[in-house]
Amino acid sequence: AAERPLAGKRAVVTSGPTREAIDPVRYISNHSSGKQGHAIASALAALGAEVTLVSGPVSIADPPGVTTVHVDSADQMLAACLAAGRIDIAVCAAAVADWKAARPAGSKIKKKAGMAPPSIELTPNPDILATLSKPGPQRPALVVGFAAETENLVANAIDKRQRKGCDWIVANDVSPAVGTFGSERNTVHLISASGVEDWPTLAKGEVAMRLAGRIALHFGRPTKA
Ligand code: C5P
Repeated sequence: AAERPLAGKRAVVTSGPTREAIDPVRYISNHSSGKQGHAIASALAALGAEVTLVSGPVSIADPPGVTTVHVDSADQMLAACLAAGRIDIAVCAAAVADWKAARPAGSKIKKKAGMAPPSIELTPNPDILATLSKPGPQRPALVVGFAAETENLVANAIDKRQRKGCDWIVANDVSPAVGTFGSERNTVHLISASGVEDWPTLAKGEVAMRLAGRIALHFGRPTKA
């Protein structure tokens, strides 16, 4: 089989957290490191795919051989994914904030003596994975989502796959004992229409290479070895 089995395929990978403005200096976000998503972008590129990595704010470097688009918010992340145009593969590894401020303040919210704490009204963010999974001529041939769960991991992930309309879910155990966030290793299950595959605990780079290999196989182009 080819050394670059994904040559000619275009992929978008989302990675990292999103940052949702409360006012010009404050935001809502999460602890996603971007390690897994960035590793997947690299692995797909290593197999020859043309990769756009849409990354939220992370402290790790842009991977070589990949076009990285930097965004802050979920709205920007969705827009950047759609701007990539026709793609064959979407992998949504970003930890998108579920909610954003309904009306972010245009200037810094001032703290005044004796004032009651402000409340922030939240509104849902767009679901990027569900949006990219919508049936239609523009739908990528393969859409992969992630599920991070602490309980009933596989059952919840099977349910999530149906709800989001994606093809595969990579389910990872983020219970405190396993500690995936920011760590170098990941224990995952690959959920598709044909069932559940349990993978051993692997370095995030190895999870990424294995996933990229499975993606190549899906397109009928097995990797060597
Ligand atoms: O719904 P939940 O956040 O558990 O789903 C996780 C999966 O959905 C991940 O693949 C994540 O990247 C994606 N997602 C998204 N946009 C959102 C929320 C989640 O793309 N607003």
